[in-house]
Amino acid sequence: MARKVVIAGNWKMNKTASEGKALVEALKETTKGICPNCADIIVCPPFTTLVSVIEAAKGSNIKVGAQNIHWADNGAFTGEIAGNMLKELGVEYVIIGHSERRQYFGETDETVNLRLKAALKNDLKPIVCIGELLEERESGATEKVLFTQLDGGLKDISAADMEKIILAYEPVWAIGTGKTATPDIAEETHKYIRSFLADKYGKEVADKIVIQYGGSMKAENAEALVGQADIDGGLIGGAALKADSFTALIENAIAGAKNK
Ligand code: PGA
Repeated sequence: MARKVVIAGNWKMNKTASEGKALVEALKETTKGICPNCADIIVCPPFTTLVSVIEAAKGSNIKVGAQNIHWADNGAFTGEIAGNMLKELGVEYVIIGHSERRQYFGETDETVNLRLKAALKNDLKPIVCIGELLEERESGATEKVLFTQLDGGLKDISAADMEKIILAYEPVWAIGTGKTATPDIAEETHKYIRSFLADKYGKEVADKIVIQYGGSMKAENAEALVGQADIDGGLIGGAALKADSFTALIENAIAGAKNK
């Protein structure tokens, strides 16, 4: 079955409120010609840039996501942001469990699972990130690592909720390094992820889930990656920070999806 192409820009810790507004205003122009049914376009700025970006994105097909969510509704969690705070601003998506959160901020599969449940409770669409380290790939442990991340991260998630979740496969060794997984390697891993979903939720549900690729995806490789059967879009870091490169990437991804 055909799944919609979903391209999300993860701005990471880049763009002030005014810089983010300017980028979305530029994107509104450059993405004008992209048919709304061909792809979902999402930008995920830092928390402090959400308001200006949501305002700037009004009246366009650009949707907005946050980069994290806390699992509690409120309380003594200094520096954290709750789901209802995001929802009230008009945020639609939220990235959960990015490898940088896992690597630098102690994120675990257990906290990914808690944040995921908070996102669903607040009617935010989660983008859950998984991926192996270079040494894990080289030692042949990729599937085992992904199994553990999926098993823990999706604990107690029903099939109905699973259908609301986007997964992003991001091999950690490909993030920000310029080293992309080849389309074949990425596809092989996406196939494994979909087989995990089929085992847990059945094939019908597994076939509906959008699985993005992330890690040095850019305009030059987007067509070949999204041309693979199980790659449904991308989570983009560096190439999402400029309107021209992000738009070219989206166009090429759509072209790739048409070749399937
Ligand atoms: P990159 O980042 O595109 O800069 O490799 C991807 C990501 O971390 O989501």
